[in-house]
Amino acid sequence: MIARFVFGGMMSLPSSRRSFVTYLVLVLLEAASGQLSYSVSEEVNPGTNVGNIAKDLNLNVQDLESRSFQTVTGSKRKYFEVNLKTGFLYVNERIDREELCTDEPKCTVSVEAVVNNPLKLYRVEVDIRDVNDHSPAFNTRSQILDIAENTVPGFRFALSEASDADVGKNGVSAYKLSPNEYFSLETHNRGESISPELVLQKALDREKKPHLHLLLTAVDGGSPPNSGTSEIEINVLDINDNAPMFSSSLYKIKTVENIPIGTAIFTLNATDADEGTNSEIVYSLRNKDQDHILDIFKIDPDTGIISVKGKIDYEERRAFEIRAEARDKGQPPMSAHSKVLVEVIDVNDNAPEITVTSLLSTVNEDAGLGTAIALVSVLDRDSGKNGEVKCEILNTVPFKLEPNYKNYFSLVVDGHLDREATPHYNVTILATDEGSPPLSNTSIITVYVSDVNDNAPYFAESVINVYVKENSKVGTVIKTVTASDADTSNNGQLSYSLLDSTSKYLSIPTLVNINSETGDIISLQSFNFEELKTFQFKVQATDSGVPPLSSNVTVNVFILDENDNSPAVLAPYSEHGSVNSENIPYSAEAGYFVAKIRAVDADSGYNALLSYHLSEPKGNNLFRIGTSTGEIRTKRRMSDNDLKTHPLVVLVSDNGEPSLSATVSIDVVVVESTADIQTQFRHVPIKEESFSDLNLYLLIAIVSVSVVFLLSLISLIAVKCHRTDGSFSRYSAPMITTHPDGSWSYSKATQQYDVCFSSDTLKSDVVVFPGPFPPVDAELISINGGDTFTRTQTLPSSDKVSCTRFH
Ligand SMILES: *[C@@H]1O[C@H](CO)[C@@H](O)[C@H](O)[C@H]1NC(C)=O
Ligand SMILES: *[C@@H]1O[C@H](CO)[C@@H](O)[C@H](O)[C@H]1NC(C)=O
Ligand SMILES: *[C@@H]1O[C@H](CO)[C@@H](O)[C@H](O)[C@H]1NC(C)=O
Ligand SMILES: *[C@@H]1O[C@H](CO)[C@@H](O)[C@H](O)[C@H]1NC(C)=O
Repeated sequence: MIARFVFGGMMSLPSSRRSFVTYLVLVLLEAASGQLSYSVSEEVNPGTNVGNIAKDLNLNVQDLESRSFQTVTGSKRKYFEVNLKTGFLYVNERIDREELCTDEPKCTVSVEAVVNNPLKLYRVEVDIRDVNDHSPAFNTRSQILDIAENTVPGFRFALSEASDADVGKNGVSAYKLSPNEYFSLETHNRGESISPELVLQKALDREKKPHLHLLLTAVDGGSPPNSGTSEIEINVLDINDNAPMFSSSLYKIKTVENIPIGTAIFTLNATDADEGTNSEIVYSLRNKDQDHILDIFKIDPDTGIISVKGKIDYEERRAFEIRAEARDKGQPPMSAHSKVLVEVIDVNDNAPEITVTSLLSTVNEDAGLGTAIALVSVLDRDSGKNGEVKCEILNTVPFKLEPNYKNYFSLVVDGHLDREATPHYNVTILATDEGSPPLSNTSIITVYVSDVNDNAPYFAESVINVYVKENSKVGTVIKTVTASDADTSNNGQLSYSLLDSTSKYLSIPTLVNINSETGDIISLQSFNFEELKTFQFKVQATDSGVPPLSSNVTVNVFILDENDNSPAVLAPYSEHGSVNSENIPYSAEAGYFVAKIRAVDADSGYNALLSYHLSEPKGNNLFRIGTSTGEIRTKRRMSDNDLKTHPLVVLVSDNGEPSLSATVSIDVVVVESTADIQTQFRHVPIKEESFSDLNLYLLIAIVSVSVVFLLSLISLIAVKCHRTDGSFSRYSAPMITTHPDGSWSYSKATQQYDVCFSSDTLKSDVVVFPGPFPPVDAELISINGGDTFTRTQTLPSSDKVSCTRFH
């Protein structure tokens, strides 16, 4: 039972509990036999002697072999052997105490020594002494600690211990920490082991030192000591202890007005020393509503980009103060504030505005140069050059702009105004500013020119010819004269009046009157052509301006003849009722001149053109009468069958319409003697001479008719120039042919010329006058060959003139 314990004990040396049991057995055994104790250090070289076992057992060395000395160990490994020759116990192989006993504080190897003859059992115990052959070691190369930066100083953090295979004082005896400002090291002895602890000495700041790298060294107590290290990695955990920060509390920027919506104008950049969400920043604008900043700017919460949201108008606001906030996302959040001062730069975005203040509603056409009409003010809401304005008139008008003071101008008269030519002007004013590009605006001022009485009434003709039939009704409007006046209202309102006639012979106011308003000329007489053939007066037109202006026109009135006078038979014969007688000789040849009837007609022209006919006896064939001459001659010689007395009735008729006539009765008595007849014949040649005077009357009369006709013809041609048929013959005047014997005849061929000649100057001068015909108080112009006209003497009196007008 015991032996079993011993062997068992020896076999189970590695176990400390078993060692203890073995120890007890050995103690029991020692009592029975001798016991030796040796000690040897571990790791000594094999062969090293541990002790002289033979000597110590009192055995004779020579006997050892003979007594079969041998050692027995319980393990396979034989750490010790005995030299039988010397009796020494020596180390047989390398001894590692830590392998044999791990961390037992006492480590012994038991060796049994056995001898025969007699059998004796000895027990040898070799104490293996520890040698410091191991270093302290940590089970991890590095330890990681996460420590919040707000951890208060004094806080402790346990570190893992180091271990050392050696025992006793060769085991871990101390720890050291690399020098640093934050942590110190404390150790606690807990029985056999020492445990290290970090103690925070000073507040951490992640922002300064987010990571700490420490080295922990464990040292054993061997000599020399061995050590082992472990790295301590400390991560300082962030706490939101830093507010965001702007680089400046005030930023100044400039931007032009009218910048497009959405344009980024500035980027705010706040930084936060913390990390993670503690440093994530949200931007926002902090202006009050009444600043109206929020209508105009916005900020991107993530990027801090400030962009334009509304219209920026320099003219409304020249600067903005944007208040911005940056706030982190930590718990609790922290924030910072900054201002962005935005200065707006003017852009030429406002055209000038023209305001016109009229000074005069209208300007008189006689206004002098420099008369101010309107005040023009120009406003440009831009500033600087963009607001400086030039002003000019675009169109050509008799006005100019005179600068008063900055951007104020007067529109003044700069030329001659004439309402009648231009009653109003549209003055186009152009205002241009000095911006780049320039903006401009126009305004049109309408200037009305008011009338001044600067135009006299105006008659279209300088002379007006009026033709009035004689015997016309009193009160007839014989002509309406009209003048025009370029002025308006009163200045153009006309009244007409008669001017005193220039005629020395007539009182015009007894002849005509004029309606001052209408210009109607009214006859005050029923004119008698035979008394008054023409008269002249002037009509004056006067406007109502102040002062009034007037002008006049000459009116020639021609009385037109009417057939209102019967032919009058001249002496020696008298008209019907009294009987005249002429004697002719019986021997008278055919064509014998019997008598000449002379008659005159107070009318003129056709109305005075007389023709003679024998109305009694009917069918008479002894006498004939010259139709135009009124000469009664015999047709043939007398015969005995003829009566002695021939009562003749001669009808003198004019050519008027209707024709007027007179009759003359002549009894022609045939006598034998010619002596009685002589005295009567003497009258004939004389009468024939004066006959030419009569002819002149007629000529004048016919010519005057021709003039009337001529004027009518001209106007008719003007109106009906295309008509070339026979209808003209109606207006034809008779062609007067003067015969050498003083008689005359006429034909109705077209006559287009008038010749006037004085009876005094019949042979030398032909006078022609272009004026009214026949002339009244006129000057005559004579032709001295060719077309040269010169003035001659005043016409002595009209009844000594005969006229022909050349075409
Ligand atoms: C903000 O400022 C920091 C430091 O000055 C810089 O590194 C970063 O790039 C800036 N961010 C922007 C968006 O400009
Ligand atoms: C021109 O001026 C008038 C006022 O004078 C203003 O109403 C108008 O807008 C201006 N025109 C331009 C194109 O700006
Ligand atoms: C002035 O302007 C008005 C209105 O536009 C126009 O009726 C008139 O004919 C113009 N006058 C002139 C002289 O251009
Ligand atoms: C009539 O008018 C002419 C010119 O138009 C002028 O010479 C003359 O004096 C005027 N006569 C009267 C009487 O007004």
